Amino acid sequence: MSDLTHLVRDRGVVICCGSGGVGKTTTAAVLALQGARLGRNACVVTIDPAKRLANALGLDRLSDTPSEIDPSRWRTAHSAPGGRLSALMLDTKSTFDNLVVRNAESPEQARRILENTFYRNVSGALGGTQEYMAMEKLHELHDAGGFDLIVVDTPPTRHALDFLDAPRRLTRLLDNRIFRLLMMPTRAYLRVASLAVQTFLRTVSRVVGSEVVEDVIAFFRAFEGMEEGFRARATAVEELLADPDTAFVLVTSPRRDAVEEATYFANRLTDHHQRVEALIVNRVHPPFGDESPDGLRARARELTVHPGADPGAAHRLAVLYENLADFREIAVRERRHLEGLRDRIGPGSVTFVPYLAHDVYDFDALSEVGRALFPN
Ligand SMILES: Nc1ncnc2c1ncn2[C@@H]1O[C@H](COP(=O)(O)OP(=O)(O)O)[C@@H](O)[C@H]1O
Ligand SMILES: [Mg+2]
Repeated sequence: MSDLTHLVRDRGVVICCGSGGVGKTTTAAVLALQGARLGRNACVVTIDPAKRLANALGLDRLSDTPSEIDPSRWRTAHSAPGGRLSALMLDTKSTFDNLVVRNAESPEQARRILENTFYRNVSGALGGTQEYMAMEKLHELHDAGGFDLIVVDTPPTRHALDFLDAPRRLTRLLDNRIFRLLMMPTRAYLRVASLAVQTFLRTVSRVVGSEVVEDVIAFFRAFEGMEEGFRARATAVEELLADPDTAFVLVTSPRRDAVEEATYFANRLTDHHQRVEALIVNRVHPPFGDESPDGLRARARELTVHPGADPGAAHRLAVLYENLADFREIAVRERRHLEGLRDRIGPGSVTFVPYLAHDVYDFDALSEVGRALFPN
């Protein structure tokens, strides 16, 4: 049984990380699909599915709640009974809104924040917000969703792993001196705010306009009394990520730049004491035999120099040998790129997914990737 099978059969949370475009969203869907086929109640949290994949998963719009996919669409004759598959597409803004509403001391406080111009502008776009809200959603589903497997896709940025820091960053912000000053009621604030802070705010006002600064101050003040809730939430998210029931899967392609990014991700996970439990190398070229590219090119040359009785056929064959040599070179290079990364992730499993001739946007194609990830 493959290690990936163990993950989707036994773990509660699987997080797919890796750089943009390598196949995280695809892989996350396949892992959840396999979990469901093994009889689990699985949900995939996607971030940015291609339109056609979103359609296949029944995600025609951003939806904050998971919707179940009709089993007749994904079940096979070999599927274990009882499995269920749901999907949702992360809506950063409404997840943030929910967090505010849940933590507010009164509906009036929630309304003040949700209507604040600064909040409306930043809640979807603030650096790290998408990363953090993905984890927030995970926590919410884990607590209340009734799923026994949640597979999480991560944002397509180099900052995708910011969610590891996000809970702590939020707490740091709450502890920040300027933040605490801004949170004070106006009169106390004016008394305490140092000249430096006031000068700073005046300068900022001149650049961005005083309404913006007022908005920001109003925004932070509106959070008064909510810090504890946020802090507790941040700790809970951190604990969930560190839980032995949570597994990190690193996805990469065999291209040099992607492997370098993946190494960066692997290092960051290690810094956070997280183990990469499985490495998935997606879009790998087949080995095309085992002859060396040089040997193949030598054959092509030989045919050109000694074409024999049919020079036309010899030429065509030489072109094919050259072509095969090119592909062999790609295959050899891809495997070489991966050597260092393999060592870096230690005992985690490594699984290869072939470069398919088409995009992966329906259950047939997801199953095709599934056969590579779960060969037995
Ligand atoms: N093994 C594969 N062979 C061919 N195309 C693939 C494969 N895996 C993914 N794709 C396609 O590559 C594109 C990027 O995949 P996606 O999962 O969206 O990457 P990410 O989420 O990491 O940005 C999509 O169009 C997807 O259908
Ligand atoms: Mg994606």
